[in-house]
Amino acid sequence: MAGGTFITLEGGEGAGKTTLIRSLMDRLEKSGREVVITREPGGSPIAEAIREIILHVDHTGMDPLTEALLYAASRRQHLAERVLPALARGAVVVCDRFVDSSLVYQGYARGLGIDAVWEINRFATEGRMPDLTLYLDLDPEVGLSRIEESGRGKVDRLDLESLDFHQRVREGYRQVAAMFPERIVTLDAAGDPGSLKEIVWKYVSDKLDTL
Ligand code: TMP
Repeated sequence: MAGGTFITLEGGEGAGKTTLIRSLMDRLEKSGREVVITREPGGSPIAEAIREIILHVDHTGMDPLTEALLYAASRRQHLAERVLPALARGAVVVCDRFVDSSLVYQGYARGLGIDAVWEINRFATEGRMPDLTLYLDLDPEVGLSRIEESGRGKVDRLDLESLDFHQRVREGYRQVAAMFPERIVTLDAAGDPGSLKEIVWKYVSDKLDTL
C-alpha cells in the first residue's frame, strides 16, 4: 500500500467539515508533512466538471442510478489523478467526503441499497478505502439553519431536498458507521467548536503515529 495517510471527513449539510479541514490543514502543515486538501465530488478538473453536472439545479430529473454512477465516475477520476499519486509520495490526504457519502446519500437515503452502491464504488476505487474517517454527527435541522444563517450564497440540487431526506442521511451515516467501526469515528458536531478541533486533531495525530 502507498506510504501516505488517507483521511476523510463525512457528515450532513452544515455539519462543519470545511472549518475543521482548515484547522487540520494548519496543524498538519506545521508538522512538516506534505498535505493535500481535497473534496468530492470534484478535486480535479475532470471530476469538478462531473460535479457541475451532478449538482446543477436544472438536473432535478436525474435518475438515481445515473447519479450514483456519476459520483463513482467523479471519484475514480479524482482518486487516479490526485489522491493515489499524493499517497504514493507519502502525503497526508484530507478529503471532504468519499465513498461513505455515496453509501449514505445514494445507497440509504435514495434507497438504492448500501450493498448495490458499494459494488459500483468497489469497482471505481479498486477497494482503496480511507485509513481514518471522521463522521460529524448533527441534527439536520441545526445543520440546515447554520447554512441559512451563514448566508452561503450558493444553493445546490441536494440542498433543495426535504428535511426528511436529510434525516435519512443522518440515519444512513449511523448505519454505515456501525458497519465500519475500525475506520469510522463518530463525533458530536453540536458541541463547542474549539473542543471538536482538539478531538479531531487527537484522532488524526494518533493515526499518523500508528501508520
Ligand atoms: P458538499 O456540499 O459537501 O460539497 O457535497 C455536495 C453534495 O453531494 C452533498 O449534498 C452530498 C452529496 N454527495 C452525494 O450525494 N454522494 C456522494 O458520493 C458525494 C461525494 C456527495
